[in-house]
Amino acid sequence: MPRKAKIVEIPAIGELDRAAGHLSRQLAQALRKAIGKGELKAGDLLPSTRVLAGALQLARGTVIEAFEQLVAEGFFVSQPGSGTRVAPSLNVNTQPAAKPAAGESMPLSRQAEAFSRAGSQFTTLPAVPFAVSVPAGSTAPDDVWRRLGNRIRARGPGAPSGYGDPQGARPLREVIAEYVRKSRSVHCTPDQVIITAGTQQGLYLAAQILPDAGEAVWVEDPAYSGITAIFATACRDKQMIRVPVDAEGIDVEAGRRLAENARAAFVTPSHQYPLGMPMSMARRTALLAWAREQRAWVVEDDYDSELRYAGHPFPSLQGLDPVRVVYLGTFSKILFPSLRLGYAIVPDRLVDAFCGARQLMDRHPPSADQYVLASFMAEGHLDRHIRRMRTVYADRREVLINAIRRTIPPALARLQPCDQGMHMVLWLNAALDDRLVAREAGQRGVSLRAVSPMYGAGNARSGLILGLGGFSDQQIENAVQQLYLALVAVSRIA
Ligand SMILES: Cc1ncc(COP(=O)(O)O)c(C=O)c1O
Repeated sequence: MPRKAKIVEIPAIGELDRAAGHLSRQLAQALRKAIGKGELKAGDLLPSTRVLAGALQLARGTVIEAFEQLVAEGFFVSQPGSGTRVAPSLNVNTQPAAKPAAGESMPLSRQAEAFSRAGSQFTTLPAVPFAVSVPAGSTAPDDVWRRLGNRIRARGPGAPSGYGDPQGARPLREVIAEYVRKSRSVHCTPDQVIITAGTQQGLYLAAQILPDAGEAVWVEDPAYSGITAIFATACRDKQMIRVPVDAEGIDVEAGRRLAENARAAFVTPSHQYPLGMPMSMARRTALLAWAREQRAWVVEDDYDSELRYAGHPFPSLQGLDPVRVVYLGTFSKILFPSLRLGYAIVPDRLVDAFCGARQLMDRHPPSADQYVLASFMAEGHLDRHIRRMRTVYADRREVLINAIRRTIPPALARLQPCDQGMHMVLWLNAALDDRLVAREAGQRGVSLRAVSPMYGAGNARSGLILGLGGFSDQQIENAVQQLYLALVAVSRIA
């Protein structure tokens, strides 16, 4: 039998925080809680808004607003002449959720476990030497950037508006197409440029789009953990075939032996990450010949080729075979990583797939900074900034190399020669565990990443990544001294 409606007592609303404002929102929340706790039941007739307002010493409009909100949410129904009541059909579980027994916890999927591990692996290091990509002082784009930002965000296309193009803002795609053509011999039109939230997103999109489930992909060994973790977290680690890298870059013959019919290869040809050498021309030719033969894609992660200190960089792989290569670039190194803007340059055949995946992932990159960046590039500021950065980083590099030479004996560690980018690798004596050294140095105020986790099982070498960020000469000298002490401390227990 249906329960006869009665006017309920004024529910226990508890204290409303009058100083915090939004009283109608607070009241609606208190009424929802009363329903959840079973103090208000389905079909209950509520006191009139006038009575409730008087009892709670609120303006009547405040109560009306809270009631209207709860009607809109389906908690209350309101009929002219018969008042407002709790929806008769409301089915709220008023039983408190059972507490898990001691020691019992909700089971997590393998993916959830893998993502949690990746989260702890990728925590941002404190912005002290030798964290990578830290712009500070003379290495930040400062005033011009701020001025352009203020102007562009205030009016025009960078001001608040509706949804944008999933591919990215056209003016930015146009200047990027021109920039990569001139600086990296990349062949493309603006229609092939997809603006990304940095190369990390470009890698994620490529890993989602290029191979089908179960199809093999080649990944360098060692490699950037940002790519290996993508496959590991998506429960696709078995798809990932680690192909060894030697002094010329990825060993294409080894790749063929391991998985000839892989669907894609992820490589860092300009500046192998983390080792630092470019891929030789012979290897580039062999890799593209394999890709052509197997109808495979090549993903070129070109994360810092602008920062070259000697000689000319090799032109991009993409320029050698634009229908097979997905080219990924980023502004993280040459501008600053919190900008979160980069680009994927994809063969025509892949444009729709990248745009579709982008729509599902986050619709499109935030608009305002795309327009700021487009103007920054179109007005020539990026080129000037890169020229200045090259000089600053070349100096920092010299300071670092000299400080290591003076302070750290070769029996403990040796620098890998390298003439490009924002980091160098310091190889450690094989008896020293790089993770222990990184931890010990962390306690001495030095930020380091270990190289050994970047290798596949069984191949690891012990080393450290030394980032050349916006640190002063003095900071670098001090950090090298602390690193030396950390190496000595770990070698005592090795
Ligand atoms: C080899 C490599 N690829 C990709 C990235 C990702 O860069 P971002 O997502 O900031 O553009 C990095 C960052 O350090 C990197 O070292």
